[in-house]
Amino acid sequence: MNDFEPGTVWLVGAGPGDPDLLTRKAERLIRAADVIFHDALVGRGILHLALRRTRLVSVGKRSGRHSKEQKTIDALIVEAALSGKRVVRLKGGDPAIFARAAEEMAACRAHGVAVRICPGVTAASAAAADLGVSLTLRGMARRLTFVTAHVRAGQEPDLDWRALADPQATLAIYMGKAAAPDVSAGLMAAGLPGDTPVALAESASLPERRTLMTRLDLLPLAAQAGLGDGPALILVGAALKPEVLAEPAPANLRALSVSASDHTSLYRCASGG
Ligand SMILES: C[S@@+](CC[C@H](N)C(=O)[O-])C[C@H]1O[C@@H](n2cnc3c(N)ncnc32)[C@H](O)[C@@H]1O
Repeated sequence: MNDFEPGTVWLVGAGPGDPDLLTRKAERLIRAADVIFHDALVGRGILHLALRRTRLVSVGKRSGRHSKEQKTIDALIVEAALSGKRVVRLKGGDPAIFARAAEEMAACRAHGVAVRICPGVTAASAAAADLGVSLTLRGMARRLTFVTAHVRAGQEPDLDWRALADPQATLAIYMGKAAAPDVSAGLMAAGLPGDTPVALAESASLPERRTLMTRLDLLPLAAQAGLGDGPALILVGAALKPEVLAEPAPANLRALSVSASDHTSLYRCASGG
């Protein structure tokens, strides 16, 4: 199938990290690319799929460590396409979720460069899979909200806590690790109970992944004590309730059982019990 002409750009979703979660189309585009501009969160296992002739350019962005300005990235992509290259812009997760896809597509279109999106598995889906939970739940979680709590250093997240504090919703909070205390305080002030279930998933889908079950009032403590340096997602809502997981956990979910006991000790520690 020739859907990758020279001089065109594909924004490709690399998924949450596990190369097995890459789509077949993403792999085909990666192998056809002349140049790949990739994010920091795209792992080696995925970059190894590129052919040796393909130029790999890191335009990595990690929290607090922006290696290139967005405008520079836009210009690099456009320039490569205008010079006749097949360009892949490889992004963690799904390119259309908190990934600056709109800016990059606008830059391409402004220069007459054809640009398309190849979707990927977003971090919230990978986190739910690692935790063994459903993000929606009949009668209990009818709404799923993706929100970013990313803020510049020294600022608080500018979020509408009232709109987000919906007991019938699951909240998937991207880039929220540093903002965990604000998330907890903001949602509780807007009416969500302190015992609302919360799950933390770090490096979802990867061998080094960590999962942690806690509750909204303990979220700051859990995020501080339970997470490392990897990318992490916060899930909030009744769908994550431990009793929803009444079935015995399959063997591959033992990490969650360990995490659940971490939660108990975190809870006891915080409540003096
Ligand atoms: C700039 S956003 C990109 C989101 C991405 N486009 C997606 O659809 O997953 C980066 C944030 O996604 C989340 N994230 C990405 N990969 C993750 C992973 N493997 N495990 C947990 N969270 C992840 C983290 O909240 C991280 O700070």
